[in-house]
Amino acid sequence: MRAVIAREPGGPEVLEVQEVTDPAPGAGEVVIEIVAAGLNRADLLQRQGFYPPPPGASDIIGMECSGRISAVGEDVDGWQVGDEVCALLAGGGYATTVAVPAGQVMHVPAGVDLVEAAALPEVACTVWSNIVMHAGLEQGDLFLVHGGAGGIGSFAIQLASALGARVITTVGSADKATYAQSLGAERAINYREEDFVEIAQGLGGADVILDNMGAKYLMRNVEALADGGRLAIIGLQGGAKAELDINALMRKRAAVIGTTLRSRPTDGPRGKAAICAEVVEYVWPLIESGRVKEQVSRTFPLAEAAEAHRHMESGDHTGKLLLTT
Ligand SMILES: NC(=O)c1ccc[n+]([C@@H]2O[C@H](COP(=O)([O-])OP(=O)(O)OC[C@H]3O[C@@H](n4cnc5c(N)ncnc54)[C@H](OP(=O)(O)O)[C@@H]3O)[C@@H](O)[C@H]2O)c1
Repeated sequence: MRAVIAREPGGPEVLEVQEVTDPAPGAGEVVIEIVAAGLNRADLLQRQGFYPPPPGASDIIGMECSGRISAVGEDVDGWQVGDEVCALLAGGGYATTVAVPAGQVMHVPAGVDLVEAAALPEVACTVWSNIVMHAGLEQGDLFLVHGGAGGIGSFAIQLASALGARVITTVGSADKATYAQSLGAERAINYREEDFVEIAQGLGGADVILDNMGAKYLMRNVEALADGGRLAIIGLQGGAKAELDINALMRKRAAVIGTTLRSRPTDGPRGKAAICAEVVEYVWPLIESGRVKEQVSRTFPLAEAAEAHRHMESGDHTGKLLLTT
């Protein structure tokens, strides 16, 4: 098969297409002939050598894909050769073929194009598991998502709105503010010009925050929380180490949660298979009814993975970027 390989850790130019051995399905796995793969910000870190795959996972970059099942391993029920699917991967998405545990495979929601379905697994599983399974977002809650025009953010705005939350978000430009509001945010805060803490507090405090910045925003996020609020941290774009005023957290009876999707086991409570099952049950119907829509702003051929990485690094994109085979 063909795969995008990073010759060595480095800039986008280290990515090149090579011929590599086809994967075979292990027990409990299926093989997918990939039609499209989603880009994720963490892919940039993996290319630079900072985000190695979990033990046993493919070292090819790529955490999600869509395509057709081309082989089914032993002990797999429910999937057949030819099924159109999308899947959450621990690695291996930037390729023409991938083997994946059957529990991480989801049917393509009705009405979604097979290519565009590659934009769904990471955002749907990350956002659902964090805001609902961990942070317990409820109807009427005030939800703050940082980076509302990005891949995760654009999905989180729509999903939280569809679940009946009031949504506010941070963005880096006026155009992105307009985009985030078109997705359902009642207020888009330009993080370069405005103070999200002040705005969240003025609205009574956020019940749930989904954060991509880590250290840089830790204490400001705690300040922005309402009493009993939950801060779910999923990204470290602002660093990994910060001081936490535990007293401030205790006075608010608040919680700080941190999760990564990629390092979770497939099985077990809140494992990847359990998350995928909930996403299919609760999120796919919202997509099928048109309440939530995949947000693909640009697709690149697999051979132009370097250009796709440059585009994501520029920060100019909105929503998701895809590679197509
Ligand atoms: N833990 C997990 O399981 C998991 C899974 C998936 C993703 N993630 C993380 O989620 C984050 C988003 O990933 P993605 O793939 O959606 O990437 P993306 O599309 O590139 O989004 C990055 C976002 O960061 C925003 N941003 C940059 N500086 C900011 C600041 N100072 N304040 C607020 N927002 C800021 C950008 O906003 P503007 O473009 O408006 O400037 C952009 O929306 C990344 O940190 C990624 O690692 C974590």
